[in-house]
Amino acid sequence: MVFYIGNYMNKTFSALYASAVPQLFSTFATKKHREMFRLVHVLVLSLFGVAVSMQLNAATTGAIHGSNGMVASRSMIASRAGVEVMKAGGNAIDGAVATAFALAVTHPSAGNLGGGGLMVIRLANGNIVTNDHREKAPAAAHRDMYLDAQGDVVKGLSTDTHLATGVPGSVAGLLDVLDAHGDLEREKVLAPAIALARDGFPLSFDLAAAFKRRLEAFSKHPATFKKFTRDNGTPLQEGDVWKQPDLAKTLVRIAEQGRDGFYKGKTADLLVAEMKANNGIITHQDLVDYQSVWREPVHGTYRGHDIYGMAPPSSGGVLVVQMLNMLEPYDIGAAGFGSASNVHKMIEAERRAYADRARHLGDPDYYEVPMAMLASKDYAKKRFADFNPARANRSTEIDPGNFDKESMETTHLSSMDIAGNMVAYTTTLNLSYGIKMIATGTGFLLNNEMDDFSSKPNTPNSFGLIGGEANAIQPGKRMLSSMSPTIVTKDGKPLLVTGSPGGSTIITTVFQVIVNVIDHAMNVADAVAAPRFHHQWQPDRVIYENRGLSPDTVRILQDKGHQQMSAWVFGGGIGDANSIMYVGEELQGKSDPRNDGGAAGF
Ligand code: DON
Repeated sequence: MVFYIGNYMNKTFSALYASAVPQLFSTFATKKHREMFRLVHVLVLSLFGVAVSMQLNAATTGAIHGSNGMVASRSMIASRAGVEVMKAGGNAIDGAVATAFALAVTHPSAGNLGGGGLMVIRLANGNIVTNDHREKAPAAAHRDMYLDAQGDVVKGLSTDTHLATGVPGSVAGLLDVLDAHGDLEREKVLAPAIALARDGFPLSFDLAAAFKRRLEAFSKHPATFKKFTRDNGTPLQEGDVWKQPDLAKTLVRIAEQGRDGFYKGKTADLLVAEMKANNGIITHQDLVDYQSVWREPVHGTYRGHDIYGMAPPSSGGVLVVQMLNMLEPYDIGAAGFGSASNVHKMIEAERRAYADRARHLGDPDYYEVPMAMLASKDYAKKRFADFNPARANRSTEIDPGNFDKESMETTHLSSMDIAGNMVAYTTTLNLSYGIKMIATGTGFLLNNEMDDFSSKPNTPNSFGLIGGEANAIQPGKRMLSSMSPTIVTKDGKPLLVTGSPGGSTIITTVFQVIVNVIDHAMNVADAVAAPRFHHQWQPDRVIYENRGLSPDTVRILQDKGHQQMSAWVFGGGIGDANSIMYVGEELQGKSDPRNDGGAAGF
């Protein structure tokens, strides 16, 4: 009975309150005023008992429900860190940044200080901004740096050595975002990550097993081996409290000194010393020169919804818009989820969009990307004009790139608050644990993002992706990314925050989550859990999750000429789309059931 009354009051009050808060919130111009308003806001919510148990509602959708704030990420501990700072008066931006720093501690294969990320933010006043803190090629990088005397790519150079590391961007970007749009002080936002690194946290089965699988790789670098094993060199076990003292010290330097705690001083000295000792090329100057960039978002529309994504050097934002544009003339909802006719159309849209990726996309500061053309409805219409409902098109023949089953690690987090702030953030070291070596003394792993450049025209990278001039290596250039943090709104109101890891499959994952929500009216839990498939133009094959397509759908698709269909047989599946939806007056969060993450709300 108490539950019913509480729930009724919660819903009625929240509805009134939620409609007023975004307008009120946007009228406060300064950070101090916003912070004061937020504290009052939290107090009001508490007084009226609106901060209601997630468990009560969880049964209704399979999602976690919240009335004030929500984070969904690959690590429940990190999501809770985000919620902790939101409860202390932070907004969704504070929550996202706290979660991102915590992920560097609790999800080290992808959460990072030594990598980069792309963030799309909707502010409570409706403005959309994006921050690009993608890594950059060091000044000493050059076009043919991974080729041998015969002009062939030297295997492993762009993935397993210190030469593979791009100048890290995460710390600069996260601090810039916090400074511009957070409500809390840096020290408060970094505090949970520092505590987790300093005091440790009990290892999950998942994490202990992941470390064990990589022991051989870690053992090649003494400081890395030490970090990922017990003091006596034996493997860490589930339940061991894992402490990372060097990482804690690096985080403290960042909390105390801001970007100088990373790009200058002790952290920078340790990083540059690590490079010098191992034929790496990142210098002090590269670090000092690194800046994050605020970019205009990519904007598209789909059946009356607004889609906001990341502009290049992400290829994801524009490809998602392109594929949705190609789909829009068709009644996808009526054909039904998983129907052969829908899957056929979506594969053909994916094939065309990825072909354009290889040709046209790269760092816009170095290469003129025809953005307006690619994102336009007119172009999509022309591009899809040769679509044949009865037959699959063929991609040009090319060496099929192999998907590396160890590589499925980037990470996406979504964060939202009831005032209408939304954050979609994807961050990475590129392959799992980057080069699998830390910068000695810093506690953080080094990325191998340089592999996202096109080392040689038409030669596939670790994700089987090819490229050419647009994505060739140049000093200071950002490598092309598939990361696709995305925000969807309807009639100016928040609807969905989504994104995913998965290399080249990121873009198709995000595309399919959006179609699930808009065309198939799925709730967030179903949209995220629904099986996925993927085509990337070249290699010319469809991959799909085990049991993701019914045998008769597969047969129909094969009859149309999709000959190289194969089930995705390893890992947790395609993507890890930790997402949040705003439904009525509440936030619904879902961490992807393919992995061991968690959504937390209050
Ligand atoms: O930016 C990119 O496209 C890649 N570095 C992403 C790598 C990735 O998603 C790895 N796996 N999940």
